[in-house]
Amino acid sequence: MTLSLGLSSAFGEESSCNDCHTMIERALPHEPAVAECTICHVTHEEESRFPNRLVDDINPLCLTCHNEKSIGVQPGMRGHIITNHPLSGASDRIHPEKPMSCASCHNPHSSDQETLLRYDFRDKVTPYGGNFCATCHWDIAIGSKPPTPPWSSPEQKP
Ligand code: HEC
Ligand code: HEC
Ligand code: HEC
Ligand code: HEC
Ligand code: HEC
Repeated sequence: MTLSLGLSSAFGEESSCNDCHTMIERALPHEPAVAECTICHVTHEEESRFPNRLVDDINPLCLTCHNEKSIGVQPGMRGHIITNHPLSGASDRIHPEKPMSCASCHNPHSSDQETLLRYDFRDKVTPYGGNFCATCHWDIAIGSKPPTPPWSSPEQKP
C-alpha cells in the first residue's frame, strides 16, 4: 500500500487508530478491538507478512485467546459449529478471494449481530429464511442463488 507523504506524517505516535478507522462502531464490539488494535495488527510503520497487516494468520491468532476445546475446534482446523466443518483451507464462499477462516463468519472488530456474526445469517427476512447454513450452502439448502445476497450492501462489509 502506498500512502501520500502528507498522510504518512499523520501516523505519529499520538494518532489513534480510531482517528481514521471506524472498525468498532457497531453495537457489539469485540473486547480486544476496543482495548488495543495492535493486539492483532502491526502499526503502519511496521512490516507484516500476513494479509491485513496482522501479527499472525487469522485462525491461530483467534485461538490464542479462544479455547479450541471449549468452542469445539477439532484437530486439522475442522469442527465448530458442526463436527468436521472446514475452518481453513477451502475458499470463503461469501468472499471467494479469501481463504475460509474464523473471520468468514465472525467480524473481528464489532457487529450488530450476537456472537459477532458477520452477517444477519438467521434473519427470517433474508432469502435464507433464517437458515444460517444456507448463507453459504444456498445451492443445497434452497436450490438457487438468491438475486440480492444480504452481503452485497457496503455496510455488510467487515
Ligand atoms: C482480535 C483481532 C483484531 C483486533 C483486536 C483488530 N483487528 Fe482489524 N482485522 C482483524 C482481522 C482478522 C482482519 C481481517 C478480516 C478479514 O480477512 O476479513 C482485520 C482487518 C482489518 C482492516 C482491513 C479492512 C477490513 O475492513 O477488514 C482494518 C482497516 C483493520 N482491521 C483495522 C483495525 C483497527 C483500527 C483496530 C482497532 C480498533 C483493529 N483492526 C483491531 C483482526 C483484528
Ligand atoms: C492517519 C490515518 C490513519 C491512522 C492513524 C491509522 N490508519 Fe490504518 N489506514 C489508513 C488508510 C488511509 C488506509 C488505507 C485504506 C485502504 O486502503 O482502504 C489504512 C489501512 C489499514 C489497514 C489495512 C491495510 C492493509 O495494508 O492491509 C489496517 C489493518 C490498518 N490500517 C490498521 C491500522 C492500525 C492498527 C492503526 C493504529 C496502530 C492505524 N491503522 C492507524 C489510515 C490510518
Ligand atoms: C486478545 C484475546 C482475544 C483475541 C486474540 C480474540 N478474542 Fe474474541 N474475545 C476475547 C474476549 C475477552 C471476548 C469477550 C469475552 C468472551 O465472550 O469470551 C471475546 C469475544 C469473542 C466472541 C463473542 C463471544 C460470545 O459469546 O458472544 C467471538 C465470536 C470472538 N471473540 C471471536 C474471535 C475471533 C474470530 C477472533 C480472531 C479474529 C478473536 N475472537 C480473537 C478475546 C480475544
Ligand atoms: C461457519 C461459520 C463459523 C466459523 C468459520 C467460525 N464460527 Fe464461531 N460461531 C459461529 C456461530 C454461528 C456461533 C454461534 C453459535 C451459537 O449461538 O450456538 C459461533 C460462536 C462462537 C463463539 C462463542 C462461543 C460459542 O462456542 O458459542 C466463539 C468464541 C467463536 N465462535 C469463535 C470462533 C473462532 C475462534 C473461529 C475460528 C477457529 C470460529 N469461531 C469460526 C460460526 C462460525
Ligand atoms: C461462511 C460460509 C459457510 C457457512 C455459514 C457454513 N459453511 Fe459449510 N462449508 C463452507 C465451505 C467453504 C466448505 C468447504 C467446501 C465448499 O467450498 O463447499 C464447507 C463445507 C461443508 C460440508 C462438507 C464438509 C467436508 O467434509 O468437506 C458440510 C457437510 C457443511 N459445510 C455443512 C454446513 C452446515 C450444516 C452449516 C450450518 C451449520 C454450514 N456448513 C455453514 C462454508 C460455510
